[in-house]
Amino acid sequence: MDPQSTPDAKRSSLPSTGAGNDFPVLVPTNGPEMLDIADLHKNTGVCTLDIGLMNTGICKSSITYVNGDEGILRYRGYSIDELVDNSDYLDVAWLLLNGDLPTPGQKAEFQHNITYHSMVNEQMVFFLRGFRRDAHPMAVMCGMTGALSAFYHDGLDIFNADDRKIVAHRLIAKMPTIAAMAYKYSIGQPMVYPRNDLDYVSNFMQMLFAVPCEPFKLNPAGVRAFNAVLIVQADHEQNASTFTVRSVGSSRANPYACIAAGIASLWGPLHGGANEGVLQTLNEIGSIENIPAVIKRAKDKNDPYRLMGFGHRVYKTYDPRAKVLRRYCYEVLEAYGKKDDPLLKMALELERIALNDDFFIERKLYPNVDFYSGLILKTIGIPLSMFTAQFAVARTAGWIAHWNEMITDPAVKIVRPRQLYVGSDFRPFVPPAERTEHKPLIG
Ligand SMILES: CC(C)(COP(=O)(O)OP(=O)(O)OC[C@H]1O[C@@H](n2cnc3c(N)ncnc32)[C@H](O)[C@@H]1OP(=O)(O)O)[C@@H](O)C(=O)NCCC(=O)NCCS
Repeated sequence: MDPQSTPDAKRSSLPSTGAGNDFPVLVPTNGPEMLDIADLHKNTGVCTLDIGLMNTGICKSSITYVNGDEGILRYRGYSIDELVDNSDYLDVAWLLLNGDLPTPGQKAEFQHNITYHSMVNEQMVFFLRGFRRDAHPMAVMCGMTGALSAFYHDGLDIFNADDRKIVAHRLIAKMPTIAAMAYKYSIGQPMVYPRNDLDYVSNFMQMLFAVPCEPFKLNPAGVRAFNAVLIVQADHEQNASTFTVRSVGSSRANPYACIAAGIASLWGPLHGGANEGVLQTLNEIGSIENIPAVIKRAKDKNDPYRLMGFGHRVYKTYDPRAKVLRRYCYEVLEAYGKKDDPLLKMALELERIALNDDFFIERKLYPNVDFYSGLILKTIGIPLSMFTAQFAVARTAGWIAHWNEMITDPAVKIVRPRQLYVGSDFRPFVPPAERTEHKPLIG
């Protein structure tokens, strides 16, 4: 169903508590029915308070469906495991952007367009050099992506379909180049230019790992596993960063600025930073002998310690992304000869315990997507500082698909939430000499 079509509507079967308190219930293709409260304030004089928007739909969308209880993740109706096993990242990017998988002809054209937009304006290199050498790659990515609007002035009529297409191509094509530039800069190596003879994922890997002084060899198992990671990270319906992109975009802001805002949101440790946390946890554990003590700590009710990479807010069964990545993780460990790497051995021991220990089983604390993506990234050589940056590259297709869906939805309005005001009631202005000391909130 396209987002502009009106889903079946029926009247609320909730008990009516007063005049006008009878709202349409919208029936989705999948997922919970939703009460349409657009006229709530107009009809009743009250609003809703929903901190964290846990019960509030913010849009109609036909991109991604998540069912945490049943462990389902589908992009445009297709299961994540089938997509990972049978497509490459650009197939999935096309699917998210355009509603269905590309025909061979559409794929060839898309591949060509993305390939030939992968260089960035050379002046952006000077912009990059303005950052401190030790800047975090995510700080550089926020700045460089926002700055794309300063380097590419054309194609910015957001109500023109051709302009939106150019923006989509530029962003998907340039994001790996920007991420790799940020990384190379942080380690003092020369920037590696994109190569047009390589597919999207291989090209991203060569920009991260190649050096000018020797030929670069790709490991096919590494490419397959990285492709799988990028696909499972490409979208996850209304998460914090996607909502951020929609929210910023609702003011009709420049699309590069919208994606930069998404990157900023993803940077937070509660969102895109979690797979970095998995590796940090493993480093803290230090060695396999320390695992029992760590498990004991994780189970201790009086200790707030959490084992990173286990459990999920939405998925209360095995995360479908973790399920499919697990296979690629084992394949890549084998292919890179890393099964005996002490850190990765420790991770596999944690996985074994979590899948067999009653505490974890009863609470449905399965290894999550960050657990396996963290291990894959570590195995193929992506440094910790780049974990969130590569996630931003992957999520770009999802962000643009949502931005495009939002901009083309005639029902869209600038985001303007309500608040429950709990501050002072009216008070008269106090002259300086009569003011009493109070504890500053920020100072
Ligand atoms: C993701 C997460 C925030 C979900 O939390 P949640 O849905 O709110 O679940 P709760 O916090 O209610 O936890 C339920 C129970 O499992 C325990 N638990 C949850 N995650 C745990 C973990 N990683 N390690 C140890 N215990 C954990 C809680 O202590 C709680 O135990 P109790 O019922 O005895 O009080 C949580 O699992 C977590 O912090 N995981 C680690 C961080 C992580 O990997 N994040 C990436 C997610 S993709």
